[in-house]
This record gives sequence, structure tokens and C-alpha cells, in this order.
Amino acid sequence: MSRRVYIFDTTLRDGEQSPGVSLTVGEKVQIARQLARLGVDIIEAGFPISSPGDFSSVGAIARAVKGVTVAGLARAEFRDIDRAWEAVRHAEQARIHTFIATSDIHLKHKLRMSREQVLEGVVAAVRRAKSYTSDVEFSAEDASRSDFDFLCQVLEAAIEAGATTVNIPDTVGYAIPTEWGRLINDICSRVAGIEKAVVSVHCHNDLGLAVANSLAAIINGARQVEGAINGIGERAGNAAIEEVIMALHTRKDNLGFHTGAHTEEIYRTSRLVSTLTGMKVQANKAIVGDNAFAHEAGIHQDGMLKERTTYEIMNPAMIGISRSNLVLGKHSGRHAFRQRLEDMGYYLSGEELDGAFAGFKKLSDKKTCITVEDIEAIVEEQVSALPHSYILEYLHISSGTAVVPTATVGLKWEGQLFEEAACGNGPVDAICKAVDKITGISCTMINWGINAVTSGKDALGDVNLKITTDGIKVFLGRGISTDVLEASAKAYVNAVNKLVHMNRIAAEGRVETKEVEN
Ligand code: KIV
Ligand code: ZN
Repeated sequence: MSRRVYIFDTTLRDGEQSPGVSLTVGEKVQIARQLARLGVDIIEAGFPISSPGDFSSVGAIARAVKGVTVAGLARAEFRDIDRAWEAVRHAEQARIHTFIATSDIHLKHKLRMSREQVLEGVVAAVRRAKSYTSDVEFSAEDASRSDFDFLCQVLEAAIEAGATTVNIPDTVGYAIPTEWGRLINDICSRVAGIEKAVVSVHCHNDLGLAVANSLAAIINGARQVEGAINGIGERAGNAAIEEVIMALHTRKDNLGFHTGAHTEEIYRTSRLVSTLTGMKVQANKAIVGDNAFAHEAGIHQDGMLKERTTYEIMNPAMIGISRSNLVLGKHSGRHAFRQRLEDMGYYLSGEELDGAFAGFKKLSDKKTCITVEDIEAIVEEQVSALPHSYILEYLHISSGTAVVPTATVGLKWEGQLFEEAACGNGPVDAICKAVDKITGISCTMINWGINAVTSGKDALGDVNLKITTDGIKVFLGRGISTDVLEASAKAYVNAVNKLVHMNRIAAEGRVETKEVEN
């Protein structure tokens, strides 16, 4: 009989620790909602003590997302655990995930603690978490490089103190599948009381083995897998959740496990995460890459035409790829628009719907056929909008081969119009300089890129860019328009709004804003 594996998604915590990724509260809630639609069992929404922004987004997700467990990360310290509980307590089902390192390398150089102190800390932390919720996960950070006897002792103590899930992380992506499978097997047979807890693994991808290690762990007794959509995360990332789900699904004959995931939501989830984080998916990435179901060689194409299964082990429809293209036209009304959004899984608030519908109407004046991708782009732009922010009112550009590029920009802030003009090395440079004059913030552009949302000369241009003021905090901006300069202006203003927003949250925050080490 097929056995159940629980999916713990850490896209919004470990995934958000990817260099250059910083999501707004609204974006995180949007991703969390989509993760719930995907059917993951647990969403790790963030690390509440790490910043006021993380605290508010964990709270917002706990309130907004139903039918899924919401977890908050906490070091094995009372103040972290208290803060995590404050944030997750609003969830239908709340989990506190507390962790401490168990390897001698971490004990000696990072924690400067003895094994005895760590053991005491684990018991105290789990008990503290347990005083708030029955659902407590304990992680032994750097388990793959920890002394086995000590690791077992710690896990035993955590279970005895009340942990209901014990997570074994390969924090530095050092393990190889055979060795990792054996470790999980040994833990399952050696740790007293292990049957009272769910055994979980959290594999990093430094050697490209995160998914293979996760599967080896399942075969050897793990029943929860942690990972992130598109495999994003610290350094080389985490196990790609969509790959774990599809490996279990496609090779159920061999492995004998299933998850609660709705596989047809995978592609949409992957796109949403990629768009909002600005982390592109490589074309040949398994399951969700552009080429994952593309057949180039003539002999393959011939086989596919005769019978799809000759060269495809999965049906693209199973992960939500084959979708009808033409969805709405110029005459579609607000009701049809909302209905289509709901069919696509987007449930917007009244205000968000107004904004998205206005965007749709504007686009339908320029484009005869509005596709799923166009609608996704419009909705995602709407969801990324922030309260109290600059809005691009108008843009005028003078550019060409024999003139100095000049931009005149009008931005509205709380109903008031501000206007400035500037010259630049190119029209985008001129736009950014004019915006900087208005906001009084001088930003450095780290990168700028454009994609077409669909094919066709009238396609929406989707500009993604990154800015910074201090070289450390990076803000991603996105703008869409059939006019690439307007898209650039919108993307730049979007990034500046995020910067202003984060600075405001940090200034208003009650707890420390510096990054917490983990
Ligand atoms: O990689 C790791 O060890 C972690 C823990 C906090 C679970 O992310
Ligand atoms: Zn991790």
C-alpha cells in the first residue's frame, strides 16, 4: 500500500534567503495562497525574529491562508520562540520550528557551546515551544556532519521534551544518497521514541544531490520532506519541491509513496515564485524548465507524433502546462474577467480586482487576444503594488541616434503630482535619474532585463530589474507594458517603492532589523 509523505515548503523562509531575493508582505501572501492550492502540508512562512518585515509577513500568512499548517522558524532561544508564536498563533494549525546546530564545527566556531549546553538548550526550547502549541518541530542543524551518537542523543531529548517532528538537515549539501539513506535508517532504528515523531529531512543542493538525498531518506524512513519551489534557497538552494513531488508521483510503482499535492498547480506555482522573486528558472530544469517538455531531435519528434509516451514519462497537463491560450477579448466585462481569474486560481480583493481589471482594459485596447500569461502578468503586477507608494502618472521620452536621451516623469504620491526631467546615457538611464530627482533617493541599478510575456509583435514587455542604495539590500522591481520604456519606468518605480516600504517598516519596527544568523 502507498504511504503518505508530508511536504514542508520553505520557499518563503529558506528560499527567501537566496541572495538578492526580498519579497513584500503582499507577495509572500500571494505565494503562500498558491502553495496552499498546490496542496503542500506545511508552509514555513518565515523567521519572525529576524526582522519586523518577516514578523508581519508570517502573521499575515497565518491569518490569510487556510487548510495548511503555518510554521515560523526560531533559534533554540526563548525570545525567538516567543516571537515565532506571536506571529503564527493566528493560523488554523500553527507550528513552531526550533533549531540548533549539533555538529562540532558549529558548536566550536559558531555557537561556542559544549554538547551538554546544546542538549540543555534543545530541551528548554522544545518545552517552551510546546507550552504554546502541540505542533513542534526540532531541527538539528548540520546533522550530516554531526557525531552520530550525539545526534541521536539530541533527537531523543527533543522527542522526550515534546517535539512531534524531528528534522535532519543536510545544511551544507554534503551528503550523498547511499550514506544519507543509511543515516536516516540508523536514526529510525536507534533513537528511542522515534515512533512518536515524524522524521523529516531538509537537504541542500551544494552537490546537486538534494532531491536524490530526499528520496533516499524517504526510502529509509523519512515521512516529511522540506524544500522550496524551483529549488531556491541558501547558496545552491534546497531540494526542489516540484521534483520531489513528481518523482514520488511518477515512480509510485517503484517507491510506493504519495503526497497530498495537486500536481496540476505545479507550473503556476513555479512561475509565480520565479516572477516574484526574480529568480529565473533555467530552461533545462526538470519539471518546470521551458525545455522540460520540448522535443528537438527529429527522431524524438517523430516518436512523439506517433505516441507521446515514447519520449515523455510525464504528461505536461499533469503539472498544469497545457492550457488554452486565448482567454479574453476586448469586450469581456468585469464579471467575465473575475470569473476567469478565479478559474485560474486568483481570488483578488475588491481593490486588487479594480486595479487588475483596469490593467486588462488598457491592454485589450492594444492587444486583440489576451492570454493566460498576460493575465498572470497583470495580476502579479497588481499584487506587488504597495500602499503609500509612488505611482507612475506619465512618461515622456525624447531619444534617438542624434539627440541626448531625455525623460520627463510624473509620479503621484498620496494624490499629489511631482514632476522632473533628466538626461541620461540612454532612455532608461534618463528615466531612472528623473525618478531619483523626485524621490530624493539615489539608487544603483544592479541589473535590468526584459522578456516578452507571450509571442507576437504586440506582446507585453516584462522588465525585471534590481536596485540597491547600500550594495547589501537589493530590491527587485517589475513592470509590464507593451511599451518597453514604460515597463522600465514601472519596474524602477516598483523597486523604489519596495525600498521606501522596507525602510519604513524597519524604522517603525520594535525588534532588531539586522539579519539574525542561522
Ligand atoms: O539548512 C538548515 O539547516 C536550515 C535549518 C534552519 C532547518 O535551514
Ligand atoms: Zn536550510
